[in-house]
Amino acid sequence: MPAKMGNAIAAGPYRSRVQPPSMIVEALDIRPGMEIVELGCGSGFYTIAVAKAIQPAGLVFAVDIQQGMLDKLKVRMDQEGVENIIPVLADAEGHIPLDDGVADAVFSITVLPEIPDPQKALLQVKRILKDDGIFVNAEFLLDPDFPLRRTVVKWARQAGFTLNRQVGNPLRHVLVFTKDE
Ligand SMILES: C[S@@+](CC[C@H](N)C(=O)[O-])C[C@H]1O[C@@H](n2cnc3c(N)ncnc32)[C@H](O)[C@@H]1O
Repeated sequence: MPAKMGNAIAAGPYRSRVQPPSMIVEALDIRPGMEIVELGCGSGFYTIAVAKAIQPAGLVFAVDIQQGMLDKLKVRMDQEGVENIIPVLADAEGHIPLDDGVADAVFSITVLPEIPDPQKALLQVKRILKDDGIFVNAEFLLDPDFPLRRTVVKWARQAGFTLNRQVGNPLRHVLVFTKDE
């Protein structure tokens, strides 16, 4: 998705209804002080909600491949007075510049199908996730790249994740994975 469409599509009222940020916050099993990485944060609609939920000590590393998206995220952070987000410009398919095992949780929302080789990105997710961390992925049908639930599960399994639980429904699924041993 081009950065100039970041706010129009990502944060419209319809999306708030079908894929509310509270759904992601709940799936992440938030605890104060968590360090969370978001893959493909876009303009930050979900980033802000998660960052607020882990205040004051928690931190969100917000990764996106487009500087234009991170600029929009910065505007949103200023508007909302949220400071516990660190924008990270990176291609998740290459190397995410974060240490191994840094994250209590990683989440991505309508991002994996935009990545030519999602498995490469998921191997990065696995690397930066703590052994007992969780990976939460959400998709919804209105996304032109919408993948079926079983497709996401297959990608994740191939990268070494096990499906732990799921919420939503087949048209707007939120899947929670844990790392294999
Ligand atoms: C459809 S938008 C979703 C944005 C946000 N997650 C949301 O749901 O509002 C997909 C985002 O993933 C980012 N993205 C796509 N490929 C990426 C990659 N290889 N590495 C990091 N970010 C990527 C895009 O720049 C865009 O911001």
